[in-house]
Amino acid sequence: MELTDGTILLRRPTPADADVLIAAVRESQREVGRWMAWARADYGRADVDAYVGSARHGDEPFLIIDRGSRMLLGGTGLNQVDGANLRANLGYWVRTSATGRGVATRAARLVAWYGHVQLSLHRLELVVAVGNAASEAVAAKLGASVEGVLRDRLLVGSRHCDAAMHALLPGDTAGWAQRYGLRAWRGAGGATAVPG
Ligand SMILES: CC(C)(COP(=O)(O)OP(=O)(O)OC[C@H]1O[C@@H](n2cnc3c(N)ncnc32)[C@H](O)[C@@H]1OP(=O)(O)O)[C@@H](O)C(=O)NCCC(=O)NCCS
Repeated sequence: MELTDGTILLRRPTPADADVLIAAVRESQREVGRWMAWARADYGRADVDAYVGSARHGDEPFLIIDRGSRMLLGGTGLNQVDGANLRANLGYWVRTSATGRGVATRAARLVAWYGHVQLSLHRLELVVAVGNAASEAVAAKLGASVEGVLRDRLLVGSRHCDAAMHALLPGDTAGWAQRYGLRAWRGAGGATAVPG
């Protein structure tokens, strides 16, 4: 299954991605590891296996790929899927050499569309540590509402961090899904694509 807006492409991670994924995480360890505890300097094959396997346990992991060059740009997806309440957590990271050109915004937009339209989830939460200005900016560009600051909500390394709860409901994404022409499309091999 693939999601694309014409510029980036989201697809499931596989064991064959291990080398490039490890290189991307290690390259970005300082910037990503500052906010996401799993991005350690010794990130390795066991971590890739756990990430790939997370799709079998209800998560919706995606690699972010440059559609033209096929370079790995980062990762995004939905986790902590709560089927009883039709809710999930939406996350993203972008390798340091690819930040600052709209990759996270594009990726998060595709994942939010996928969550709302393809999975029929109602509430998508973006939990952003206070001080993570880049992630705050991505959430704001998506149109997520800030609902409050949760004390010590995240544990990053040994640091407890307050975090702002942002959420997207279907009404928040419907407007831009239409603006960006996001729609389901059955491609070759049953792939789901979203033409931009
Ligand atoms: C947060 C992150 C994913 C952003 O990736 P990105 O691809 O650079 O984001 P975008 O290019 O889509 O930027 C979105 C907006 O953030 C703004 N932004 C980027 N860095 C910023 C910063 N340090 N301070 C304030 N705004 C910032 C950009 O200017 C852009 O807004 P604009 O288009 O109006 O100029 C990336 O920095 C990252 O991987 N950080 C570490 C992991 C992380 O924090 N993940 C989120 C956990 S909740």
